[in-house]
Amino acid sequence: MGSLAVDAHYPDASDHALVLTHPTAAEKEQTWRLNHGEWGGPLDLSAYLKREPFLASTPLTADGGMVHWILTDASPAQSTGPHDKRRVLASCETIRKRVLYVPRSGDEVGEGLGYGIGSVYTYPEFRGKKYAARMLRELGVALKTWPEEEQLQKKRSETRGQDHGATDTSRPGKQPNGQTKLQKAEGKEAVCSALWSDIGKQFYASKGWPAFASEHVEFPSSSPSPPPGISSLLEQSARSHKTSLTLTPVNTSNLAELCAQDEAQLRAELIHHARETRRTAFAFAPEYDVFRWHWAREEFLVSHVFSGRQVSEVRGMIATVTNSVSTNGVAKADAQGGVRMWAIWTRNYGVDAAFDASKNTLYILRLVIEGNGNSPPEPGALQLAFDAILHSALDAARTWHCGTVNLWNPTATVRGLITASGVTHRFVDREVDSIPSMMWNGPDGAEDEKEEAVDWIANEKYCWC
Ligand SMILES: CC(C)(COP(=O)(O)OP(=O)(O)OC[C@H]1O[C@@H](n2cnc3c(N)ncnc32)[C@H](O)[C@@H]1OP(=O)(O)O)[C@@H](O)C(=O)NCCC(=O)NCCS
Repeated sequence: MGSLAVDAHYPDASDHALVLTHPTAAEKEQTWRLNHGEWGGPLDLSAYLKREPFLASTPLTADGGMVHWILTDASPAQSTGPHDKRRVLASCETIRKRVLYVPRSGDEVGEGLGYGIGSVYTYPEFRGKKYAARMLRELGVALKTWPEEEQLQKKRSETRGQDHGATDTSRPGKQPNGQTKLQKAEGKEAVCSALWSDIGKQFYASKGWPAFASEHVEFPSSSPSPPPGISSLLEQSARSHKTSLTLTPVNTSNLAELCAQDEAQLRAELIHHARETRRTAFAFAPEYDVFRWHWAREEFLVSHVFSGRQVSEVRGMIATVTNSVSTNGVAKADAQGGVRMWAIWTRNYGVDAAFDASKNTLYILRLVIEGNGNSPPEPGALQLAFDAILHSALDAARTWHCGTVNLWNPTATVRGLITASGVTHRFVDREVDSIPSMMWNGPDGAEDEKEEAVDWIANEKYCWC
């Protein structure tokens, strides 16, 4: 095995001998030890070494949902045990996600697989030698056919009657019901891969992942909330004869239902968008397991940053505004003009999280305005619902030591609601961090490489990994 310290020969990045493969357990740990400084946030090394495998074991990522990749110059024929270490010239990981799309030439929603790419990393001694570029080039190609490749690997593994080996993440384990999660991939095309660049828009664009919209709006939680705060909104609504506001927290018990409603509405929106614009429209499915992955991340961080404090059960808010009509002085609810809106959020913590709230952010992962199809909501009802959600998020941020509430790529309607809310805010067009970047492999992408291949609907934080 090559040793990092003594092997001074650096292979050329275009060398045919370099291979994209999967790390051994020892190689994964070595990589985490090195990239802890980049992505450890408030976690010390020992907590980070626990967090990474923990995040690979959620329902979204377990059993082949997450795959770790490396570029190495070791011969593929060389057998590797879990404790072996080859030269890791570059590394990254992928998370499989379900994707919805409507081709510009069609009017039905297609379902495919998309891969989120994360933790692209080159060990310091190997930087600047184009190893990351080579790994990404190989990965882009590999991910196009990865579902079939997974099936082949599964069949080979079954034929051999074994399911062990060094490259454990590429060989998904059996689930309690005897099935493997690979079945999720069966019959699904790999239509895209996406990543969220922390090094600007050029590096990944030049490798096939052009940048998409990367705007967010941030609300400082410390600035005094202008009236009405959440309690006065509720009081006002209780006194009002016209509208009634109800707030219901989002948690694990109602998340699945909200996701199903969101997906149904998003499917209709994709069809509408493709029809109107004659461009392919795509979205990451807003799935239960995806939100649970974000929440698992938050739970892990909270348990280390605020040891002994139970994580908040309130992971978002549903605001329902109904209009009342008065008949002979008796108010009753009227479906017309009312609205239901919800936000699902998660908290992220930075270095010195317990002392410095400015490093901590409450991210609205997804904001949904439910359309009732028959009558559009009254502007007043819409604004009341939005104000209630925003003030709930600000309260939840303050209570959990987050200096900012942050919402990615708000729609035109939401931008209007933000302005009218009167809450202090700032729009930021990110140029460096968390730039959504996507390679489209599905049907009907735009032919001109300079323009975005497809329109990314609901380009919000829930897509990130
Ligand atoms: C970014 C990184 C993976 C590049 O690895 P590498 O093997 O050195 O990359 P390559 O040799 O293929 O390419 C080097 C290119 O990366 C660019 N690059 C490296 N760090 C960069 C940064 N912080 N911002 C912008 N560009 C950067 C270099 O400018 C160079 O660009 P060029 O090809 O136009 O000359 C590596 O520097 C690294 O691990 N950095 C720390 C972790 C990180 O930031 N990862 C990216 C997360 S999105």
